[in-house]
Amino acid sequence: MELVKIENCRKNFDGEEILKGISLSVKEGEVVSVIGPSGSGKSTLLRCACMLETMDGGSLYYAGKQAAHEENGRVSYASGAELKEIRKTFGLVFQNFNLFPHYSVLKNVTEPQIIAGRSKEEADKKAKECLEKLGLIDKISGYPCQLSGGQQQRVSIARALALEPKVLFFDEPTSALDPELTGEVLKVIRDLAALHMTMIIVTHEMNFAKEVSDRMIFMEKGVIRAEGSPEELFGSDDERLRSFMGKLNGN
Ligand SMILES: Nc1ncnc2c1ncn2[C@@H]1O[C@H](COP(=O)(O)OP(=O)(O)OP(=O)(O)O)[C@@H](O)[C@H]1O
Ligand SMILES: [Mg+2]
Repeated sequence: MELVKIENCRKNFDGEEILKGISLSVKEGEVVSVIGPSGSGKSTLLRCACMLETMDGGSLYYAGKQAAHEENGRVSYASGAELKEIRKTFGLVFQNFNLFPHYSVLKNVTEPQIIAGRSKEEADKKAKECLEKLGLIDKISGYPCQLSGGQQQRVSIARALALEPKVLFFDEPTSALDPELTGEVLKVIRDLAALHMTMIIVTHEMNFAKEVSDRMIFMEKGVIRAEGSPEELFGSDDERLRSFMGKLNGN
């Protein structure tokens, strides 16, 4: 089943077309990475998919449910109650963690669950289960500022997982981290992939993307320039793609 389906997504900022008709489908259990140069529209695409930005054109579906569709040149979004349900389908992990500094680690993970309607007991139980899985159980009463960047990012992954999404979006989850802390976060994502978590990952970590992805998407200037298995993309004879991937591999 297609968990996420985006059709012909268009987005303008200040009169400039930043996304020029992107279509993307992701099946249950699939791991898709999105690569491309800075400014190509990767974050904007993720933000449109997560409805943090409204699209100027296009349609969006989660697990077959219509979140947005275009009619007569206008995009209309599903009603409040429907959107609330649809939003439960996905989680988002940001580059810079977005934890609440004045909340303990535990509260950072329980609070969104309570807002989503769980009781405090349920939320506590689930939070501890997720933090335990991510190796953070001894940190639950600490505050974000007392953690390393890698640990903070793992808390934000625990926070997303606690809400039991069907699909997780990551926007450069390791780019704010020192190289030695990057590994621990990539390991978490690798473990999730092994458990067949559906994920869409914007990343500049080429080797990681190659290893973990079922499919890779190369974006440039608001369009998908190439798409395929890691082998296909790494073996591509598209000069632009080759030079982009070569540069990032330090070649
Ligand atoms: N809120 C905004 N207002 C105006 N312009 C924006 C906004 N968000 C993004 N843009 C512009 O849209 C373009 C694409 O930005 P986006 O952040 O999606 O790129 P990206 O591929 O994620 O880049 P990076 O790899 O640097 O994160 C850029 O030119 C950016 O300046
Ligand atoms: Mg970005």
